[in-house]
Amino acid sequence: MGSKAVIGFENVRKEYPGGTLAVEDFSLEVASHESVVLVGTSGSGKTTLMRMVNRMVDPTSGRVHIDGDDVASLDPVQLRRSIGYVMQASGLLPHHTVLDNITTVPVLRGSSRRDARTRAGELMETVGLDAALGRRYPWQLSGGQQQRVGVARGLAADPNILLMDEPFGAVDPIVRRELQQELLHLQRDLKKTIVFVTHDIDEAFLVGDRVVILRPGGIIAQVGTPQEILAEPADDFVASFVGADRGTRTLHVERVDGRDIVVDADGRAAGVLGRSPGEQSPDAQSPDALPTGETPS
Ligand SMILES: Nc1ncnc2c1ncn2[C@@H]1O[C@H](COP(=O)(O)OP(=O)(O)OP(=O)(O)O)[C@@H](O)[C@H]1O
Ligand SMILES: [Mg+2]
Repeated sequence: MGSKAVIGFENVRKEYPGGTLAVEDFSLEVASHESVVLVGTSGSGKTTLMRMVNRMVDPTSGRVHIDGDDVASLDPVQLRRSIGYVMQASGLLPHHTVLDNITTVPVLRGSSRRDARTRAGELMETVGLDAALGRRYPWQLSGGQQQRVGVARGLAADPNILLMDEPFGAVDPIVRRELQQELLHLQRDLKKTIVFVTHDIDEAFLVGDRVVILRPGGIIAQVGTPQEILAEPADDFVASFVGADRGTRTLHVERVDGRDIVVDADGRAAGVLGRSPGEQSPDAQSPDALPTGETPS
């Protein structure tokens, strides 16, 4: 393939035994160092799509390629070890210490135990964990600490591709916020190609360079940058999805120096809406005109 995409889904379809059509016909290319977030209601096929990348699920038809290679031609075990996978609720091995959880894959891939442990120590620091926690078992950690270990483990083999399936799902909103910010910092330094799954549209907009909003059956309702989707939801489905939990929305639009800036709850500018001031329609100048405008009470 001459494509610059790192990951390509080409007309993939997945029917599970028993007849569930989880994904009808999905195509998407993920560029190098891009983070793409799949967001959609429960059962819309997000996990199925993500698992096609590391062959935990094989498509019924269509294909997935990585750097131009059809994953069907790659050894599944090697493939899984070469891709970071952060599971919901961390997925840690309960009878292994934190350090052993993080070092398992690098050791399987041939790192010396010593190198793997040194690297694990660095990663623990990177994700905000005290090195002393390395000797503990997962059940001796808080939920947020466990999820940090999950992220460190996903990064341990220094994969180019990181798959993250609701990685921050099991923690309270404050810790979740911290973990999201840490991921943004990590991504700035490490520049992985990331596929990230979430139910949470705010998380999607924060983490994703592009966001894919899915209907049931893995049907793409809209794909675009957060700014594009916020500015112009493709249809009513997207508009309601994007505005669904108005009461708790954290992203909003502020007008600064004649430009519409998307701002997160910490006041951090998440982006600029893509119209020059001259093209602004009167409606677009009012944050309330957007489905995600600040909450009307
Ligand atoms: N192993 C399986 N066997 C049969 N059906 C499955 C299997 N895994 C998933 N499904 C079905 O396929 C559909 C899509 O499931 P999937 O796990 O991809 O959804 P999801 O978008 O990740 O949902 P959630 O947000 O709840 O995690 C669902 O209807 C689900 O019941
Ligand atoms: Mg899922």
